[in-house]
Amino acid sequence: MRHKTIIEPFRIKMVETIQMTTQKQRERYLKEAHYNPFLLESNKVIIDFLTDSGTSAMSDEQWAGIMRGDESYAGARSWEKMKEAIHDLTGFPYIIPTHQGRAAESILFTLLGGEGKVFISNTHFDTTRANIEYSGAQAIDCVIPEGKVPSSTYPFKGNMDIEVLENTIKENGTQNIGAVILTVTNNSGGGQPVSMENARAVQKLCKKYGIIYLLDSCRIAENSYFIAHREEEYKGQSYRDIAKEMYSLADGTIMSAKKDALVNMGGFMALKDKQIADECTNLLIIREGFATYGGLSGRDMEAIARGLEEVFNKDYLHYRIRSTTYLGENLFDMGIPIVRPVGGHAVYVDAKAFYTHIPVHRYPGQALVCELYLHGGIRSVEIGSVMFGKYDANGNLIPAAMELVRLAIPRRVYTQSHIDYVIETFGFVKEHKEDASGFRITYEPEFLRHFTAHFEQVVG
Ligand SMILES: Cc1ncc(COP(=O)(O)O)c(C=O)c1O
Repeated sequence: MRHKTIIEPFRIKMVETIQMTTQKQRERYLKEAHYNPFLLESNKVIIDFLTDSGTSAMSDEQWAGIMRGDESYAGARSWEKMKEAIHDLTGFPYIIPTHQGRAAESILFTLLGGEGKVFISNTHFDTTRANIEYSGAQAIDCVIPEGKVPSSTYPFKGNMDIEVLENTIKENGTQNIGAVILTVTNNSGGGQPVSMENARAVQKLCKKYGIIYLLDSCRIAENSYFIAHREEEYKGQSYRDIAKEMYSLADGTIMSAKKDALVNMGGFMALKDKQIADECTNLLIIREGFATYGGLSGRDMEAIARGLEEVFNKDYLHYRIRSTTYLGENLFDMGIPIVRPVGGHAVYVDAKAFYTHIPVHRYPGQALVCELYLHGGIRSVEIGSVMFGKYDANGNLIPAAMELVRLAIPRRVYTQSHIDYVIETFGFVKEHKEDASGFRITYEPEFLRHFTAHFEQVVG
């Protein structure tokens, strides 16, 4: 290709107004939201980088599919389409629809989890960990050491540490391992990819010890892009074939369709084992709905079937990964410390390295989240000690491994000028770096505190 500029490979057919706000207004909104952007109304946000989950713009084909949704309670045409699309991609015979990823997690971990069980992942996503722990089981992360160093440019920082995985299996006893879960890409570890070589090594170990091997595949297409561009053996292979090969190694998968299926709601489980699938279906019917719709409407299922095709389009994936990288590279060039190389769905800023004057127990990530909102109306999320911190017996903070801020980019929603606006905002935030202060938590719930916690600024 001759052009340097990678354009959005779509035209805009419908628009949604962004409400512009002033910094003065945003100061008030933030205070009213207790300095927790999760508590802001979306019309008070200019650029919403809170999550890439369920925030995609659907295509004309998907919207057309919505009109064709078959809302029959049992055996709907739309279910057949979704089932076929998932079967064709994953190769798994048993497919169970759920209303989103965590519903699949809750069902599967109720079954495989419980007191005394241990689950091992590269990095458990927060809802995955919560569902495992809620069942009474333990969740252990085993990402490679490079995955914990924001400045390391290792190409597959989402990889599982195979040696640590084997030791963890031995220490806990094979019979106690509920499953090994490989998350692709590794969301909580910076959206970093996992190589096929690593996926094969995980499979080999699981086979050796007779352990169930699951893929958390909500960003499988983005992960496949990285494999095609960074793993020699896969250069030039189609993204879809790479994804198929990765699925073929596992015993099952959980997918939140709100990411790489390009829809606003949905999820599923796909499994090899009939007995596990049957037991999951029983739970599904109690918790979500009948086996041919789970928690979904017919129109959702149509959109998922089409999204799972579209996401592997090579122009789409190229634009997707390059535009995330564009943001990351520009921030890096401005001297903003980011996790490198840039991941697939998000840019992660190392808030601890940026705000060296804010100690970890004053949550530098939360400070950056608030500054981005104040200066540009940008909503982002802290992925650090607010999200993952715990307390010791004396009530002192046990900090998370990293203090990151995630700028998650919705799929097909923002254009390059939006991204340029974000880059400019970082310039203002950097200019006012020394003025930023830390926070103290004034209210927190027992689980997943970051969603609803209240904060108070600690000046000085
Ligand atoms: C890696 C990963 N697993 C699971 C989930 C949970 O999916 P959902 O939000 O659809 O419940 C998410 C959501 O962000 C995720 O990123």
